[in-house]
Amino acid sequence: MTTTSLIIFLLILTLSLSSLPIPSLSQLCNPQDKQALLQIKNQLGNPTQLASWDPSTDCCNTTWQGVSCDGYRETYRINILSLSNLNLPKLCPIPPSIGNLPFLEILDIRNIPNLVGPIPLAITNLTKLNYLYISHTNISSSIPEFMSRIQTLVTIDFSYNKLSGELPGSLSLLPNLDGISFNDNFLSGPIPESYGSFSNLFTSITLKRNQLSGNIPATLAKLNLSFVDLSSNRY
Ligand SMILES: *[C@@H]1O[C@H](CO)[C@@H](O)[C@H](O)[C@H]1NC(C)=O
Ligand SMILES: *[C@@H]1O[C@H](CO)[C@@H](O)[C@H](O)[C@H]1NC(C)=O
Ligand SMILES: *[C@@H]1O[C@H](CO)[C@@H](O)[C@H](O)[C@H]1NC(C)=O
Ligand SMILES: *[C@@H]1O[C@H](CO)[C@@H](O)[C@H](O)[C@H]1NC(C)=O
Repeated sequence: MTTTSLIIFLLILTLSLSSLPIPSLSQLCNPQDKQALLQIKNQLGNPTQLASWDPSTDCCNTTWQGVSCDGYRETYRINILSLSNLNLPKLCPIPPSIGNLPFLEILDIRNIPNLVGPIPLAITNLTKLNYLYISHTNISSSIPEFMSRIQTLVTIDFSYNKLSGELPGSLSLLPNLDGISFNDNFLSGPIPESYGSFSNLFTSITLKRNQLSGNIPATLAKLNLSFVDLSSNRY
């Protein structure tokens, strides 16, 4: 065979293989990511809104609702997960298998009335996470100090939940944090003094409609804030 005919032969072989109905050959989805998503679906009680998460199809296909793979960097690892407007058939905690999606940059959980329980430690596995939104759910318990282990965090929105307890002082250790929205929860106690040492990037703080008390730390005046709402508390 000449080189040209060999190349043509290989080309035909490749084309015919890719048209075979063997999903694993043509799927972009990382198998571990797919397994994690299917565990998450199961841990949420298989809600009908996630019927598009079909194990026989490619999870990087846009048909998987709320799932995005990183095509820009061509890793095809799941970097965005959006779980919103789900009617869970029973009360469920935040699925711990979220910790098995280590390439997540955006995690957006919204409008899930039957989502309950605390923020899981598994979330600290997400070492590339920039944007974390968990709002309009019934999650409770306190905002854990372990949030400060996710050093890549830029924005945290935990508004409209049932979170209680004191604000974690260690959030000021996050070097890239630009804003927090914890409004409409049951958070109590003082605003930590350490919040005066957020980085220059920190511009937005929303704590309205909680049960915060004590003095508002004077150190907050040192921040470069463009948006502040601390209203409707118990100072
Ligand atoms: C995505 O899934 C649809 C429906 O299963 C299919 O028709 C389409 O070819 C798939 N697209 C890709 C890029 O795999
Ligand atoms: C954290 O990630 C590792 C590997 O990426 C995985 O083995 C482990 O189960 C994850 N832990 C949690 C709590 O999700
Ligand atoms: C919390 O649960 C109650 C009772 O199921 C529900 O009515 C309410 O909408 C939930 N809250 C949120 C923010 O989802
Ligand atoms: C403060 O914020 C303004 C507007 O966001 C920005 O232009 C300025 O560079 C910031 N200053 C510092 C010291 O970060």
